[in-house]
This record gives sequence, C-alpha cells and structure tokens, in this order.
Amino acid sequence: ELSRIPHPPRRLPLLGDVLGASRRTPLQDSLRYARKLGPIFRRRAFNREFVFVWGADLAADMADEARFAKHVGLGIANLRPVVGDGLFTAFNHEPNWQLAHDVLAPGFSREAMAGYHPMMLAVADRLMDHWDRAVVTGRAVDVPGDMTKLTLETIARTGFGHDFGSFERSRPHPFVTAMVGTLTYAQRLNTVPTPLLIRRAARRNRDDIARLNSTVDDLVRARTASGGGEGDLLGRMLETAHPETGERLSPENVRRQVITFLVAGHETTSGALSFALHYLSRHPEVAERARAEVDRVWGATATPGYDQVARLRYVRRILDESLRLWPTAPAFAREAREDTVLGGDHPMRRGAWALVLTAMLHRDPEVWGADAERFDPDRFDPQAVRMRPAHTFKPFGTGARACIGRQFALHEATLVLGLLLRRYEFGSDPDYRLRVTERLTLMPEGLRLRLERRSPDA
Ligand code: HEM
Repeated sequence: ELSRIPHPPRRLPLLGDVLGASRRTPLQDSLRYARKLGPIFRRRAFNREFVFVWGADLAADMADEARFAKHVGLGIANLRPVVGDGLFTAFNHEPNWQLAHDVLAPGFSREAMAGYHPMMLAVADRLMDHWDRAVVTGRAVDVPGDMTKLTLETIARTGFGHDFGSFERSRPHPFVTAMVGTLTYAQRLNTVPTPLLIRRAARRNRDDIARLNSTVDDLVRARTASGGGEGDLLGRMLETAHPETGERLSPENVRRQVITFLVAGHETTSGALSFALHYLSRHPEVAERARAEVDRVWGATATPGYDQVARLRYVRRILDESLRLWPTAPAFAREAREDTVLGGDHPMRRGAWALVLTAMLHRDPEVWGADAERFDPDRFDPQAVRMRPAHTFKPFGTGARACIGRQFALHEATLVLGLLLRRYEFGSDPDYRLRVTERLTLMPEGLRLRLERRSPDA
C-alpha cells in the first residue's frame, strides 16, 4: 500500500532522506516536503518509514474515532522513560489513562477554571512588573523567555500550589533546563540512530530525568506535610478516588502526572503567546483593533473578572490565527483500530499509523485559500468558521485523547494578551526575521520586543 504514496528521491540506503534534512528542524523540513509531494507523503529515516497526512479530506477521515485512535510513537514514545503512563504518553489500553482522565477532568471544568483565574492574574501581574522595569530602562524584552516564565508559574501555581520564582531568577529554573533537555533529547532520538548518540548525551538525559523527579517529589512531600486540601490538580491526584471504581492514582503515577502537567501545561502555551505577540508587533492595525476591544469590554475595571475574558472575541481570533500558522504542538499521530481504507484510497492494516501534520493542514490552500500563509485573524470570525469543513483546525488534537488543557490554555493566553495589549505598545525590531526553533514544540527563536506604556494608569 505504501508504494503509491509519494516520497522524496532516495539518497543513501541507510541515511535515507535525512541527509537533505536538518535534524534540528524536522517539522519545517516536513513542511517543505509536503509542499512538493502533496496531501499524503512518506519520508524514510534509518530504514523506518513515516507517513505524513495533511490534506483536509484525509485529515478529516483520520479524525473518525470509530476507525482511528491516538498512536503513541516517535517523540511521544521517546518521552515514556520520563513520564511513562502519564496522561499524554499512556497507550490507549493502559488502565491508568482512563483512571487519571476521570479523576482529573473535573480539574478543567468551568468552576475549576474560575478558581484558577485570580492566580492567573497574579502571575500576569508579576510579568507586567518585570516588563514595566524594562520600559523604564529601555531594554527590549525576551518574549519566549518571559512567556515561558509566565506559563510555568501559572501551571505550577494553579495546579500544584507551587512557586518556582521564575521572575526573580536571572537563569531558568533547573526544572526548566532539565525539561528542555529531555524534550530536545526525545526529538533527537527520532532523527539520529541511537548508536550515534554520544553517551554523554544519554547520561545528561538521565540526570535531567532525575532532576525532574526530585523536583516533583519535593513538591508532593511539601503538600503531604502541609495536610493538603487545596482542591487543585495535585489535591485531586492525591485525594480523589475514581467516582465509580474507588481506585486511586499510585504515588509513582502521581509523579508522572505532575511532570506531564508541568511540561504539557506550559511549553505549548508559551509558544502560542510568543507567536501571537510576534504577529501583533508586525500588524499594528490588528493590535489597534484588539486594543479597542479590550478597552470596550473591560472598560475601567482594574482587574478583569473570569467572565470578561471569553468576551474578548477578537483577541481570541488572534490567538487562533497564531495557532493556525504555528500550532505549537505541530503534529499528532493516529493509528487504525482495524483494517481500513484511508480516504477510500489508502488501505491500512490494523495498528498502521500516520502523522497528521497539523502545521500543514492549517495551510492547505484548498481550505484556507491562496493566501493561506498570510496572518489574518478574520479567518476566525464566526461566519468564516461556519463556511469551512469540519476537522480543518486541530491545534489541540482530536478525539478522546485531545488536549485536556485546551480551555485552560485559551483562558490563560486570552487573559494575558488582553492585559498586555491594554498596557503596552509593542515595537518590533525591523531586522528580526521569524526563525522557528523545534524541540517537539515550536517557538519563535530570539524574539525581542521594545515596549512602551500606553498610559501610566492603564
Ligand atoms: C494533549 C496541544 C496546552 C495538557 C494535547 C494534544 C495536543 C495538545 C495537540 C494531543 C496530542 C496527541 O494527540 O498526541 C496543546 C496546545 C496547548 C496545550 C497547542 C496550548 C496552546 C495544554 C495545557 C495543559 C495541557 C495548558 C494542562 C494544563 C495536556 C494533556 C494532554 C494534552 C495532559 C494529554 C491528554 C490525553 O491524552 O488524555 N495537547 N496543549 N495542554 N495536553 Fe495540551
């Protein structure tokens, strides 16, 4: 069945297509191949064959939950030594997936989110203190660095009642350094054959994992010592029994879930905010329209309430449009539950799998038009959305294993963009060219902005 799927010309039998590719940018290389080879294609690396799908019809077919499910492979499987059967990396059949999903889903309900809102505001205040100082000293701000501090503090506070002190540190918290290390290592395992990976890198990875574990163990110990009862994600993990079976998460599984949430809960949101700020700085007319909305909806209220965030419709469209062009988790894998035929054309055996290349699905000219590469938040006005076929915008994945933190991320990011738009004008560096770094997730590398306060009391 594979023989009919286009692929790039072969070079060496072992190195396959990898020679033409940089292992630092596998996603952006795949986008280039996609444009050349069409809506379904395959790439070979080290005698393994990967099938990529991005055409809207094929991607929609793969969203059919009756025939397809999440596939745990590649980068995700490479994270199993770190997070095992945690929510993100669990195999579909592992009992701890359903158990943890049922125990933690109420942690993302509307009520729970309204409870997190004041903590999100408090963290945003710390970012703005930090940025106000940059305005005074005329320094440009490090956008990805500061967004990562913000989102890490937000998930740590709301989820686990923990404070990493990110804004008070001049270098990233050791937890963040270890996390970036394990993500980079997991990505490299996709593209570099294991024997060629220097032993030092493997040893450093083991140290990084030990650092992640010890950070989490400290956090859990502190909670247990304080008697618990916070009603946050950690509280649910430690205290909630499954509503039907009465089962609880084991201490080992709690550790895996805490790392999962600390990582999954901040890296992608940080990228989404950073790309949005990049586009806002490049499109002053969009920023002006968004500011006008914030002023209208929030008025003179010093601190917006929970319900006032979702009312920032245009700000939300800016976020959606940024996630369209750079979905910060840029692909997800699906496998056939039974023998089936993808798109009526490509037979697949049970267990066969393919990557849905979200970043390219979101640029399919047949769906998004000839100007698909252009940033335009109006693509997400309700009428435009109604005209588009289903399953063409998938930054949070699909089906039962889609992102559990979607509302959390959208609330946090919309709130923060609203606050930043209200307080600052963003000056972009005319020499900055968008460069995207990949470590399983995407980030605008080296993005700096010069800020001005809009008005001292805004
Ligand atoms: C799953 C994207 C924010 C926690 C996923 C998946 C995607 C995704 C694409 C599915 C992966 C797959 O099919 O293999 C994003 C993006 C975010 C974001 C783009 C921000 C803009 C968050 C936040 C949290 C979170 C804030 C937690 C607070 C998770 C978890 C899973 C997941 C636990 C695994 C769910 C399961 O399999 O049951 N995310 N995510 N994510 N995400 Fe997110």
